[in-house]
Amino acid sequence: MPLPEFLAELDALAQQAVAAFEAAGDAEALEAARVQFLGAKSGQLKAVQKGLGKIGKADKPAAGKQFNETKKRIEAAQAAAVERLARGAGPSEETTGFDPTVPGIRPRLGRLHPITQTIEELKDIMGRLGFSVAEGPEVEDQWHNFEALNIPAAHPARDPLDNFYLATAEKTAAVPSRKAWLLRSQTSTVQIRVMEQTSPPVRIISLGRVYRPDTADATHYPMFHQIEGLLVDHHVTMADLKSVLRLFARSFFEDDVHIRFRPSFFPFTEPSVEVDMSWQGGWIEIAGAGMVDPDVLRAVGYDPEQVTGFAFGVGIERICMGRHGIDDIREFYKNDVRFLRQF
Ligand code: DAH
Repeated sequence: MPLPEFLAELDALAQQAVAAFEAAGDAEALEAARVQFLGAKSGQLKAVQKGLGKIGKADKPAAGKQFNETKKRIEAAQAAAVERLARGAGPSEETTGFDPTVPGIRPRLGRLHPITQTIEELKDIMGRLGFSVAEGPEVEDQWHNFEALNIPAAHPARDPLDNFYLATAEKTAAVPSRKAWLLRSQTSTVQIRVMEQTSPPVRIISLGRVYRPDTADATHYPMFHQIEGLLVDHHVTMADLKSVLRLFARSFFEDDVHIRFRPSFFPFTEPSVEVDMSWQGGWIEIAGAGMVDPDVLRAVGYDPEQVTGFAFGVGIERICMGRHGIDDIREFYKNDVRFLRQF
């Protein structure tokens, strides 16, 4: 083999090997490069070394010298890559084409949970209809969670098996029920808190967590989210309720959906309805609602002869599942990034 050919082969090999070591981004790539170029049995350097035997005697010293230098060069590139990866750095910048002068693209470092995204959207939709956001505590007293909502002491909804009473509740059982605490079972509590503090008109929504000791299954979870709506003013009617819920459903589901009311019962509304929405050929239940019961208005010091109101409660997980075709509520709380990344 003529010397120039041999030297050219060595040079090409060195360039290839150095590039491979520089590009190695992890231990696996590093090992692959080592085997490919420096492997004792079938490494490319070994293959070129075999060519050394075919070099004419006069050229041998020059060829040998160049071979040794090439080997050193490749080994140095390997050592540099080992050191770089030990430092935790990625492929060296030259090989990734990183150019610090190019304007950056802001990385997406995370995303909001689908329920948080839904909450933000609901606030936006209802905000456009003139509803402002009210907050209430998640640890509630029985007055706001039950009594003022027309759910008296003997009502089954207050059963300890259906509520998360706090340990202090038992100790204070003898004192007025206002002092017994529980994790709120509904966001209707916020209706009372708002009306106690403001005189009509009222037009609020409240969104947040509620708690019930249900065994988790595809449609139940011991903690979930509700959005509560309340509008109190002169001459508020069921027609207003239906219009607002229809606008709400059309905005959220981005479709020409229809709303249907089914007679129902809630202690704090009279009349009460379950609200269904036409969706993909069927009806899905989206809310409980009704006209605020006069007893509730009286409990907060409003005059039911002067004002009327409507209220509604919507399960946020339920409508989020409906919209995205999610069939198991537990998906929201597994923290499986493969699920969360879809939103
Ligand atoms: N609080 C009810 C629940 O958790 C939902 C509800 C029904 C809220 C009717 C309302 C309403 O405001 O009017 O099941």
